[in-house]
Amino acid sequence: MKLTEELRKNWRVQVDYTNVTDKYLKDKGISERTFEAHKKLAREAHAYVSANRGKDELFMGWTELPYNQSEIVADILETAKLIRRKFDAFVVLGIGGSALGPTMAFNALCHLHYNDLPKSKRKGPRFFVEDNVDPVRMKELLDVIDVRKTCFNVISKSGATSETMAQYLIISDLLKKAGVNIRENVVFTTDEKRGNLVKISDELGGVKRYVLPDGVGGRFSELCPVGLLPAAVLGIDIKLLLKGAAYMDKLCRASDYRKNPALLAATIQYISMKNGKNIGVLMPYSDNLRYVSDWYAQLWAESLGKNVTLSGEPCNVGQTPVKALGVTDQHSQVQLYTEGPFDKIVTFLSVGSYKEKTPIPHGCESIPDVSFLGGHTMEELIRAENKATAYALTKAGRLNYTIHLPVLNEFTLGQLLYLFELQTAYAGAMFNIDTFNQPGVEAGKKATFALLGKPGYEAQRAALDEAAPDPAYLV
Ligand code: PA5
Repeated sequence: MKLTEELRKNWRVQVDYTNVTDKYLKDKGISERTFEAHKKLAREAHAYVSANRGKDELFMGWTELPYNQSEIVADILETAKLIRRKFDAFVVLGIGGSALGPTMAFNALCHLHYNDLPKSKRKGPRFFVEDNVDPVRMKELLDVIDVRKTCFNVISKSGATSETMAQYLIISDLLKKAGVNIRENVVFTTDEKRGNLVKISDELGGVKRYVLPDGVGGRFSELCPVGLLPAAVLGIDIKLLLKGAAYMDKLCRASDYRKNPALLAATIQYISMKNGKNIGVLMPYSDNLRYVSDWYAQLWAESLGKNVTLSGEPCNVGQTPVKALGVTDQHSQVQLYTEGPFDKIVTFLSVGSYKEKTPIPHGCESIPDVSFLGGHTMEELIRAENKATAYALTKAGRLNYTIHLPVLNEFTLGQLLYLFELQTAYAGAMFNIDTFNQPGVEAGKKATFALLGKPGYEAQRAALDEAAPDPAYLV
């Protein structure tokens, strides 16, 4: 598709921050003076992120992913074609940053009942992302796939994550027992040189392997082979996805937060957090965008939840992300958002034009309470409800703003992902923390190693046994 300048403008993702301003929220809103007071900090955050773009040693390699992958993309498209031809199912084995992106893109850009469609109506094999070690889930996946006809994409940057490697052991054993040469049915996405998946693929020989680049952490990896291969297998236009990211990058080059959507969102969030808004709700009005909230929750929580600044001072910063879905959660959580504690800021994701309109037919003419709906469309209804909820929150003095996608496609999704990644990097810079590490996650991984007897973790096992003996207080 030819992406004209006009199309780019029509598909531009924008942040509408009307409902955080004191003009609309009165004393609960952010005043011009407060915004002005944060202008310098926002500029500094922008300068920090700009100066460190692409630096692997700072885990900022993700900024360049829209630009430096043309060969990889070509290779992925070839591999995806082979996978589509050869396999009935494609299973991602991974967790956290190695799974949330593929799930999100699948849900956003494919049919909502994709796996139930007949083969002729799907662009690729049936698709599963297995991001847990729930024994029931693993067993029941095996009830619906034939391992001989399934491609397993094992994704792990470290190659050491217990969950993913346990899944790999189960699958490779099954493939062996089924008489399949393992290397024919697996693709690894991992570090270039280090880690167990590198060793395993060297031992197996001839395994197709993609690199999760050095300077790209798990939660920033959707636009590298971690997300691009699964997306390409599904027939998603990954070139357009990357073009969307590049477009948002261009829109965010300005150092003035009023001209830079990611910097604006980061500044709003920073001011809110400083004012006790410890909860950030992300509420897409679209089932397709539902798992963007899961992906964002990891990005935001793991990046900002830190207890020390880059200068070594203790701090406890971050914001608890809450996932909500419009309109479903209007009938559950919105009561709390409207009348509960003033500890939240709500971000809506709205869609201008849905790919289906779904008319509501006339009927029940003798009951005006129902018949008024006839002649409208479900698109009108969901958009009206989005507007109504934003209005109700604003009327109740609750901070809320909207990220608006004119349509949902690869180009707008690419913009949205890049916007969130930049927003996170800017917010981390404002707090002066290491946005890209995750010591809290690593601690849990190591404790699991110790509990399951990984060599080298004996001392930690002893410490764990001592610190957490069998339950002492049970009711
Ligand atoms: O963001 C992160 O770094 C984590 O969520 C990881 O993605 C997750 O723990 C999986 O790690 P790995 O890819 O090494 O298996």
